[in-house]
Amino acid sequence: MKAVLQIENLTKNFGRLCAVNKMNLKVEAGQVFGMLGPNGSGKTTTLGMLMSVINPSSGSFKWFGEEATHETRKKIGAVLEHPIFYPYLTGQKNLELTAMIKGATKDQIAEVLQLVELTDRRNDKYKTYSLGMKQRLAIASALLNDPLVLILDEPTNGLDPMGIAEIRELIKKIASDGRTIILASHLLDEVQKVCTHFAVLKKGNMVYSGPVEDVNNGSETVEVNAEGDISEVLSAFDGVSAVNRENGFYEVKLKDGIKSKDLNKFLFEQGVTASHLVTKKRSLEKQFLEILAESK
Ligand SMILES: Nc1ncnc2c1ncn2[C@@H]1O[C@H](COP(=O)(O)OP(=O)(O)OP(=O)(O)O)[C@@H](O)[C@H]1O
Ligand SMILES: [Mg+2]
Repeated sequence: MKAVLQIENLTKNFGRLCAVNKMNLKVEAGQVFGMLGPNGSGKTTTLGMLMSVINPSSGSFKWFGEEATHETRKKIGAVLEHPIFYPYLTGQKNLELTAMIKGATKDQIAEVLQLVELTDRRNDKYKTYSLGMKQRLAIASALLNDPLVLILDEPTNGLDPMGIAEIRELIKKIASDGRTIILASHLLDEVQKVCTHFAVLKKGNMVYSGPVEDVNNGSETVEVNAEGDISEVLSAFDGVSAVNRENGFYEVKLKDGIKSKDLNKFLFEQGVTASHLVTKKRSLEKQFLEILAESK
């Protein structure tokens, strides 16, 4: 099966500034793909190129194995930065206008309103909507012609915790129908909670890409202590990749797949009783910072 999106050497220069540098990326059907990066790393520029609103300086991309055309774009719904709706019209009316442009039916309007849980509020004016409701209306609008792919740029920006949770639930719900979602975010937490795959951008360079799961399963670090100097015993264990002394503890980095209980068993066999043994799972945040630091 063809990838939903294939990006090859995609580059965008703004004068001397390289906003996106030779990006290569593949997104497969059904993935919730996160583009994760700090402010100014090139996320919006990338999405803009993928939506054909920004011209690439070089490189290319294919949607569903084809060059981007009017036809391929019909299969993609997007919520980029600030969606424009008429403040004095109701949510329903605003969607009717979009539906007219996209050739969507009344039934489809009702369907997307239901999906984003705005059916009750459909006859209220847009300007009376909360930020979260506005964002949900924008998502509804992007879904009107039943696209195969949904693109979201910072979908939870500016929302309160409740609004954030609602949008994240909504994204998961949309993905559960098998739709492919590509979202840009500077929030690790967001990517970790809603994405299946992600790429990390740093100053226009893609410095990491892979399944979210792999990163979450990162190797373990264990804090150990015991009577006397045990650094040699620790280093003798096959499953250890590094030993450091930190805050009065030994910080032992284990190899992939090795668990703290394996270390404990080994120590016991060597006649060492650990007085302290605590697994410290590296958070995605720490790993993200490491990924960014490694690629300096
Ligand atoms: N139209 C433009 N003209 C000149 N420079 C631009 C333009 N658009 C973006 N840039 C620059 O390109 C770089 C990438 O910007 P971009 O908006 O893609 O980042 P981003 O990852 O979306 O950031 P944020 O998290 O703040 O939304 C930045 O340095 C930005 O200043
Ligand atoms: Mg942006």
